Amino acid sequence: MSINEYIIEFNHINSILNISQTPVEIAQFMSAAELHVPNINIILEIGCWTGGNLCLLSNIINPPGLIIGINPITNHPVDRINVPLVSRLVEPNQFVYIDGYSEDNNTYDRLLTLLDGRLIDALFMDRTDKYDEAMSDYNMYSKLMNSPSVIGFHDIVAYPDGPGRVFNEVRDDNYIRIDANDNRGIGVILI
Ligand SMILES: C[S@@+](CC[C@H](N)C(=O)[O-])C[C@H]1O[C@@H](n2cnc3c(N)ncnc32)[C@H](O)[C@@H]1O
Repeated sequence: MSINEYIIEFNHINSILNISQTPVEIAQFMSAAELHVPNINIILEIGCWTGGNLCLLSNIINPPGLIIGINPITNHPVDRINVPLVSRLVEPNQFVYIDGYSEDNNTYDRLLTLLDGRLIDALFMDRTDKYDEAMSDYNMYSKLMNSPSVIGFHDIVAYPDGPGRVFNEVRDDNYIRIDANDNRGIGVILI
């Protein structure tokens, strides 16, 4: 699909489940992921909120793939994920929701059991604006990445001392910086 088609898809999904991304930035991330990884079979989002962004990202998977979201259940009903709805929207792919904090060993162990030795083709990190937390997620989850694969860091422009700093510290020369001048930004590491 083209970037414009991803933006149309963004608007469609966003009318059902809000997506907290700048449309052109996430569309460019999807396009970069597709270009770099010929077969995307497994996608993970850390901080999947209500699952809208994962529904959008399901467009770059090679069906039937596996789509995993990590997010603790929140106290606010409006922020709670509707797993049957997200599962329907990403069909024929499988959606697995892991209710937990990304930094908890229990969450990580559940992911390892689910992956059963398989590796992640596309990871999107969007749970924090803090440097230590983003670095901790990167250190834990980057070990599970396939080759080739991509890691997206959200909010590198909005939080230059948080995810932005982590992105600059861990990337080598193989990266893309997406910035649509909306004070958000996505850093993409190409593995
Ligand atoms: C900015 S929202 C994510 C938006 C979503 N990625 C999107 O594009 O629409 C951040 C999410 O991270 C979740 N979160 C906060 N702390 C977390 C943690 N330790 N582990 C996983 N998710 C967490 C919050 O509950 C919230 O849903």
